[in-house]
Amino acid sequence: MEIRKASAGDMPAISKLISEYPDELMQDHLPPAEAFFVATENEEVVGCCALEIYSRRLAEVRSLAVRKDFQHKGIAKQLIQTCVTLAKENDVYELFCITGNPDFFQKRGFGSFKKEKYALIKIL
Ligand SMILES: CC(C)(COP(=O)(O)OP(=O)(O)OC[C@H]1O[C@@H](n2cnc3c(N)ncnc32)[C@H](O)[C@@H]1OP(=O)(O)O)[C@@H](O)C(=O)NCCC(=O)NCCS
Repeated sequence: MEIRKASAGDMPAISKLISEYPDELMQDHLPPAEAFFVATENEEVVGCCALEIYSRRLAEVRSLAVRKDFQHKGIAKQLIQTCVTLAKENDVYELFCITGNPDFFQKRGFGSFKKEKYALIKIL
């Protein structure tokens, strides 16, 4: 298994992987190819995760997915770590995610912001 930056040519495979999880992941407005990392096995995409850097203050981890037959092998953990490393290299100091799977992210050190109870978002 290898983790590498995605290219535009990976987007069909990334979209297909994300479409396997309609309840967990947004299918439209995907991050751009250059924001994605992919996990590959024999050059096939088996996992993906994007880091969108909005400013030095804030970046978002998005579109994390691992193919069902490759789950529970630590691939998501490595994809998140790769995003964290890239965020640190860019001197970003707040990383957030919006997820229906908080347990997974809490294990990776994500939590409420400065002990606030809620992070509220207004959709425009
Ligand atoms: C969530 C998901 C990405 C995990 O992928 P994975 O490669 O199987 O995860 P890993 O093998 O790296 O597991 C890392 C850790 O998370 C835990 N974990 C895995 N799936 C989990 C889940 N659904 N809920 C809570 N914890 C989970 C593992 O037990 C492991 O714990 P450990 O660090 O204590 O050993 C994968 O199940 C998936 O693609 N789900 C559908 C899409 C989704 O929910 N994406 C995340 C929401 S944005």
